[in-house]
Amino acid sequence: MGKHLITSALPYINGVKHLGNLVGSLLPADVYARFLRTQGEETLFICATDEHGTPAELAAREEGLPVSEYCAGMHERQRSIYDSFGISFDHFGRSSSPQNAGLARHVYETLDANGFIAERTTGQVYSRADGRFLADRYVVGTCPRCGDRGARGDQCEHCGAVLDPVDLIEPRSSLSGSSDLEIRPTKHLYLRADALANDVDTWINRQEGWPKLTRSIAHKWLDEGLRERCITRDLDWGIPVPREGYEGKVFYVWFDAPIEYIGATQEWADLNPEGRDWRSWWYNADDVTYTQFMAKDNVPFHTIFWPAAMLGTREPWTLATQIKSFHWLTYYGDKFSTSAGRGVFLDDALDILEPDYWRYFLLAQAPETNDASFTWELLATVVNKDLVGIFGNFIRRTLTLADRHFGGQVPPCGEPTQAERDLGVDVREALRRYRVSLLRLEYRQAVSELRHLWSLGNHYLDTCAPWALVDTDRDAAGRVLHKAINLAYLFAVVASPVIPFASKTTITALGMTGRGSEPSWDEAADLNAVPSGHTFRVPELIFRRITQSDIDNWKERFEGTIV
Ligand code: MF3
Ligand code: ZN
Repeated sequence: MGKHLITSALPYINGVKHLGNLVGSLLPADVYARFLRTQGEETLFICATDEHGTPAELAAREEGLPVSEYCAGMHERQRSIYDSFGISFDHFGRSSSPQNAGLARHVYETLDANGFIAERTTGQVYSRADGRFLADRYVVGTCPRCGDRGARGDQCEHCGAVLDPVDLIEPRSSLSGSSDLEIRPTKHLYLRADALANDVDTWINRQEGWPKLTRSIAHKWLDEGLRERCITRDLDWGIPVPREGYEGKVFYVWFDAPIEYIGATQEWADLNPEGRDWRSWWYNADDVTYTQFMAKDNVPFHTIFWPAAMLGTREPWTLATQIKSFHWLTYYGDKFSTSAGRGVFLDDALDILEPDYWRYFLLAQAPETNDASFTWELLATVVNKDLVGIFGNFIRRTLTLADRHFGGQVPPCGEPTQAERDLGVDVREALRRYRVSLLRLEYRQAVSELRHLWSLGNHYLDTCAPWALVDTDRDAAGRVLHKAINLAYLFAVVASPVIPFASKTTITALGMTGRGSEPSWDEAADLNAVPSGHTFRVPELIFRRITQSDIDNWKERFEGTIV
């Protein structure tokens, strides 16, 4: 019996995330976790906020809060938003936890003992006015290539030039604006990724099923040759480096963030030490299949640098079995951006529509093979066609008719005719394809198979026309509605990973809750789980149409963010 470990890339703490973050890791991870649980698989779904680094410090400074207080508040805020979206973490931790600090220290010390840590002295920009070293991106000045006055020390956003802070003309601190800067020598620790390149290469080449995007990014990095990577920073906020001469320095945020996948599992276990064992997921855990979800910019860290660190410990840590990565969701062609405030943020999204609308739409448009553009028009089209026109419409028609003609009770099943036999075959095939797509982590395909499955219901009703039959052959009408009600049940049951709230509403209306464990998909696919005589009620409208005036309102509300 295998176990499934699932992680979503850790959302950064510096603010409420946007739809792009949701579709690029949290949501697909949740769908997979929910799906595996419905199949009876032992599943652990872990995530956390990524809390260290300069951006956290800056966000706290902007709010006028101590950074630890800022992080605690924003962690809660993010947690409650993900909860509202139905993201079913087994644990949502914090990379600032003592568990993570302990693990990060352990990984570092083990790497050091194994000879994979090197010390180097470099020159770095120091701001006298700020009394601190500045990360490259917090040095700003005039771009030597295009003359843009707002170029950052790592890159000019205007012309795309990759820069070094010393390249900037008239450099100044973006924190204080001061130009009283100097280059000071400072010591840092480096992970010898170069010395671990063979281990990483061997590991990557053993991975057979990685999706194309993940594989191509990993190979690009490998082919360019791995160089040592700096894993420390001159900062106060972070995990202190346990080494003499490193007072005032902390680990680089990308060193401890992925370790928090383990840290959060330990946090989870510490909440209930009797019943939970984090090591059984992470250490010597041969029976674990580990699937990671992330956007494409995270792939190098997950395919190269984190595995290099873990392999360098020479300890039996669990490494990813599967890495599903995503392109960008754009907002009318532009990247969603936390720093630029562009796009739809998750709190605003929940303010205008319930979570299932977003979940369905985002998965249907998941940026799997290319970047995908979010537009309000497309949202309306997908919602109106699929959720309202196919799913909602079928549930409503079926239950309204059955209620009107059979008084809120499931009519007798009767003898199946060719129509029901054909239906059974089509339903099983559609369900099989939907399951396969989910197992392959192909979300657009999965949604398309789900939509196809649902459409079989409307097709069946249209063909059999029970509303007409009821006058001529009441038994036949009853038989059709019996099957249709069972289809409604099946549709809701199997939709639960994608639209968990509407699924639950429908199952509740059908009076099929409280039967203990999650209903089995195969049982539901037999189309007689809801028995004759069983009482149901007609649910309130499950999905409502998005109108032109909704689109106009939302466009206006978010207009400032279309550039
Ligand atoms: N916080 C990072 C981001 O938003 C992701 C960190 S993933 C982890 O891009 F593996 F490092 F945790
Ligand atoms: Zn430039």
